[in-house]
Amino acid sequence: MDIFLLLVTTTIIVQQILSEFQLKTEELKEVMRRMQHEMNRGLRLETHEEASVKMLPTYVCSTPEGSEVGDFLALDLGGTNFRVMLVKVGGDEERSFKVETKHQMYSIPEDAMTGTAEMLFDYIAECMSDFLDKHHIKHKKLPLGFTFSFPVRHEDLDKGILLNWTKGFKASGAEGNNVVGLLRDAIKRRGDFEMHVVAMVNDTVATMISCYYEDRSCEVGMIVGTGCNACYMEEMRTVELVEGEEGRMCVNTEWGAFGDKGELEDFRLEYDRVVDEASINPGQQLYEKLISGKYMGELVRLVLMKLVNENLLFNGEASELLKTRGSFETRFVSQVESDSGDRKQIYNILSSLGLLPSELDCDIVQLVCENISTRSAHMCGAGLAGIINQMREQRRQDTLKITVGVDGSVYKLHP
Ligand SMILES: *[C@@H]1O[C@H](CO)[C@@H](O)[C@H](O)[C@H]1NC(C)=O
Ligand SMILES: *[C@@H]1O[C@H](CO)[C@@H](O)[C@H](O)[C@H]1NC(C)=O
Ligand SMILES: *[C@@H]1O[C@H](CO)[C@@H](O)[C@H](O)[C@H]1NC(C)=O
Repeated sequence: MDIFLLLVTTTIIVQQILSEFQLKTEELKEVMRRMQHEMNRGLRLETHEEASVKMLPTYVCSTPEGSEVGDFLALDLGGTNFRVMLVKVGGDEERSFKVETKHQMYSIPEDAMTGTAEMLFDYIAECMSDFLDKHHIKHKKLPLGFTFSFPVRHEDLDKGILLNWTKGFKASGAEGNNVVGLLRDAIKRRGDFEMHVVAMVNDTVATMISCYYEDRSCEVGMIVGTGCNACYMEEMRTVELVEGEEGRMCVNTEWGAFGDKGELEDFRLEYDRVVDEASINPGQQLYEKLISGKYMGELVRLVLMKLVNENLLFNGEASELLKTRGSFETRFVSQVESDSGDRKQIYNILSSLGLLPSELDCDIVQLVCENISTRSAHMCGAGLAGIINQMREQRRQDTLKITVGVDGSVYKLHP
């Protein structure tokens, strides 16, 4: 076949394969509607149990503006690194501000992660003690906020039961117990400093509150990183799991599990099914698996393998590495898409995977990355539109101006 014709046919077939990832506005609106429907099922007492989107109350409530000022200690535990921070909050009638004055990172040793809950929390208290010593504030009894990014069922702002460890943590005797209680006990066991543990929140909630200090219309928090989750301020009367009618409470949607009851079946592609089946939790967190960084690179790799098998890429031959699950890292997706146009970055990544790409190969790989990350962003945007519609309807407003606080590695690193 003539080389020009070959290029044209290749491009047309690649486009056909990628068209599955391009969602029409009508389809995205459908995702938005289904998300809102499932959110309402999660909020209502009689449907909560069976709803895929759990809508967990956080006990973080709307408060009078600018009421909290002074020095605070903040802890952040959500992975193998643990952070201690000293935060100053100040302000006046008009606005408040926060300044992170000091912070330190500690890494959690393997034996603390996998030993007993006492060992883990003793280690955390030891790090706090070290931090307070270094900054000469051990004599102060500071109020403390704890960002704890594991699944928790809250019973109050300062009381939450750890449901499951995730992310490689195993410390025994913690699951089923109040995390704030475990922390307070560890501080008591040391006896060399005192702390007033005021609140424990999730990373989504921490993101929302943190952004709220700078922008009073921030009432949604979203994480797009290894995982994907969002929270927002819901009317108390709608949060049926908690008594009370007045004001608003922040609800952690746990929307990553959207789709687990079949709501996304008409949107999930063959690649999504392979990713799910090979994961540690098949059938769970299906919406998250379309979006988050833990899966994005692998989705790209599966599409590349499909193109190789159809003889559309790399002369129909994959390297051993490309055939290996997990070899196409999510950070490669960002790197491929930020290539300056000379294909150098793309070429280097593909070479590191043992491939010898042509210019057309590089361009196709870039299209694959763009289509998959764009679908991720659109899916995420559709869910967010569901949340914002819900807020607008519950507030009985025709329009709503709202700010969304966003964090997470994919959001921060993807161009
Ligand atoms: C998806 O891929 C097609 C080629 O199949 C390309 O024309 C299009 O720009 C890509 N879309 C996005 C959003 O990257
Ligand atoms: C909190 O965050 C973690 C990690 O982001 C998540 O797995 C967990 O389900 C979240 N929700 C709650 C209510 O703890
Ligand atoms: C969490 O714990 C529940 C019951 O305690 C169990 O059914 C579920 O599979 C666990 N989930 C994970 C992700 O480990």
